[in-house]
Amino acid sequence: MTNQGTNLDPWYSHYADRTAGLAASEVRALFAVASRPEVVSLAGGMPFVSALPQDLIAGAFERTMRDFGPMALQYGSGQGMPALREHILDVMALEGIRGSVDDVVVTTGSQHALELVTKLFINPGDVVIAEAPSYVTALTVFKSYQATVSHVVIDEFGLVPEALEERILALKAEGRTIKFLYTVPTFGNPSGVTMSWERRVRVLEICRAHGILVLEDNPYGLLYFDQPAPHAMRSVEEDGVIYLGTFSKTLAPGFRLGWALAPHAIREKLILANEAAVLSPSSFTQGLVSEYLSAADWRGQIDTFRGVYRERRDAMLTALDDYLPDLSWTNPNGGFYVWVTLPENLDSKSMLPRAVKELVAYTPGTAFFADGSGRTALRLSFCYPTPEFIREGIRRLSTVVNGELELLSTFSQTGPLETVRPTEKIISPPANLG
Ligand SMILES: Cc1ncc(COP(=O)(O)O)c(C=O)c1O
Repeated sequence: MTNQGTNLDPWYSHYADRTAGLAASEVRALFAVASRPEVVSLAGGMPFVSALPQDLIAGAFERTMRDFGPMALQYGSGQGMPALREHILDVMALEGIRGSVDDVVVTTGSQHALELVTKLFINPGDVVIAEAPSYVTALTVFKSYQATVSHVVIDEFGLVPEALEERILALKAEGRTIKFLYTVPTFGNPSGVTMSWERRVRVLEICRAHGILVLEDNPYGLLYFDQPAPHAMRSVEEDGVIYLGTFSKTLAPGFRLGWALAPHAIREKLILANEAAVLSPSSFTQGLVSEYLSAADWRGQIDTFRGVYRERRDAMLTALDDYLPDLSWTNPNGGFYVWVTLPENLDSKSMLPRAVKELVAYTPGTAFFADGSGRTALRLSFCYPTPEFIREGIRRLSTVVNGELELLSTFSQTGPLETVRPTEKIISPPANLG
């Protein structure tokens, strides 16, 4: 019998197999709830664009129309505007990268570059090795091209080289085809962890020895708080690394401008794939960002962002110390995220509805693993709420965590679940910021 679809979606049976991975992520489902003003959202990764003076953008807007004229309103090249690609070289030089303007491909955000690279390399069943935990929407892309994601552990210094090598050998012994290693080595999303310089060099050696391409995704590298991060992996290795950058975190995500710096041969295919997908990235926003980078003090603006996020990181770490001293968490030196580990018996996913009831949102750890692990962890973002809201959010989170722990200890003292009724104290009314 042919599948006739469902009441909800008459076309259910028509979808391609690759769409099986396109379930709404925890992050996505959360956005609807977390955007309510009374909720302190520590869930999303929205940059604090209000720290960007509007007149800087308005000026660039006017100059775009004056200097680029109709060109800004026209289709452009599939590789992106040469003027912008020149600026991109200056941006990457801050992280030790030297490249040719010919090898930069401008994309519609780095998310689109992730999609294009995956499209170019992945056949169904190919393996992507990814650090655990990994950026959730990269996992969605890998799944949508039917890749098998094989996770490798990280510690406080990033990806563990011995574990990587072991995994490569095991996968090869199984006859699997490994296409690339995906890593966010600097101020990782979601971990906040930065791969040390020694590890970068070692990981590159391992990948080179085994003929594995590295996909280095680096949206946060320039947003350091105390000391600059180690130089990008791409600064060491040209031929084996595809590097992804973006203006989303150092300028604004609304422009939807990112880029890939790829080895020469791959670059050619990327341009073709870009053209097939979007013809050309937006000429208008490329012109505007070029103007901004030509005339504005963009390095100073990145310093401003650094100051804002440093203060918020400090607020989050202090609040965690004050309200949840028994938990453990990472200590990011840049970026947007803190990764929190809960006591063994707590489950961040099942705790989430209670958190939302207490008017605080976070992202459960399970979102960042392809295999459903990560239940005892959660990601907190400090990029968007003010320090005061961050503190209040952590206070609310402590109510939730302590409530869960109390509940568990009540159950463990009183026997089977059904004999216990939740008390007033456990299901308390939502806290109010006031
Ligand atoms: C690690 C990582 N890669 C890629 C992206 C996509 O960024 P965009 O498409 O805005 O450049 C994000 C966004 O949060 C990210 O955190």
